[in-house]
Amino acid sequence: MTLPDDLAAAIERARPRLGRLASTVLFFETIGSTNDMAAERRAKALAERSEGLVVVADQQTSGRGRRGHTWFSPAGFGLYVSVVLAPATARTDPARATTLLTLAVGVALAEGIEQATGLRVDLKWPNDLQVSRRKLGGILAESSGAGDRSDTVVVGYGINVQTQAFPPELRDRATSLESELGRTIGRHHLLAETLVALSRRYEDLLAGRFDAILDAWRRLAPAASGARVEWTTNAGASTGVTVGIDDLGALLVRIDDRVERIVSGEVVWI
Ligand code: BTN
Repeated sequence: MTLPDDLAAAIERARPRLGRLASTVLFFETIGSTNDMAAERRAKALAERSEGLVVVADQQTSGRGRRGHTWFSPAGFGLYVSVVLAPATARTDPARATTLLTLAVGVALAEGIEQATGLRVDLKWPNDLQVSRRKLGGILAESSGAGDRSDTVVVGYGINVQTQAFPPELRDRATSLESELGRTIGRHHLLAETLVALSRRYEDLLAGRFDAILDAWRRLAPAASGARVEWTTNAGASTGVTVGIDDLGALLVRIDDRVERIVSGEVVWI
């Protein structure tokens, strides 16, 4: 679908700072999930050498969150975006670049949101965007499936923008930019600034500047150190105190006199 004029104008203004992202931007008024559309179009995008394909929608009817959750995606409420990236083409240590991709995206989104709105956002491991412990946005990275190009990742992000009644299960846990700031936020400027920040952090990743990403992530995630957390594994529930992340982005948690390394799953700050 053709881009709305103000969306196209925001992208064009940002173009000199977008690097290899957004050479193609697809817009849909209503879509199931932007991640699915990006996955469907990725082969074509790569054949046309347009890594950085961006899919944006005004509304998603089957927006997905992590761990099988749905993502609240009504029309005009939030930013729903997916980008096709290829971290495995990194010049240095492609495996580490792929592992650190979602942390890099989290850093970029926090930076892009602050640039566009002035709001300081915290990161919660692994990659929730939060304000005062309420969820403002999230990231869903999906690698391509079997038989597909295995070196691409669809990175989808959702940011709550407008003040709108959340469903009951989210009411106490979610927030939006407009409720935090008490003013209207232009979604197209926000989209452009998050993509610019993403482009910059993606270049860090491709060039092996992993410490820059990890240092920025640590600064943006104060609760990754010294906070009491609980998580569940097959062995049952455990609690401990966070002591940071390691060089591959795993969360480190001290339990008595040992440190556990958590690589996936849901960790609850208690
Ligand atoms: C999370 O659970 O925190 C991740 C949420 C990711 C939501 C975004 S919205 C755009 C993209 N399309 C989807 O279906 N999900 C992601």
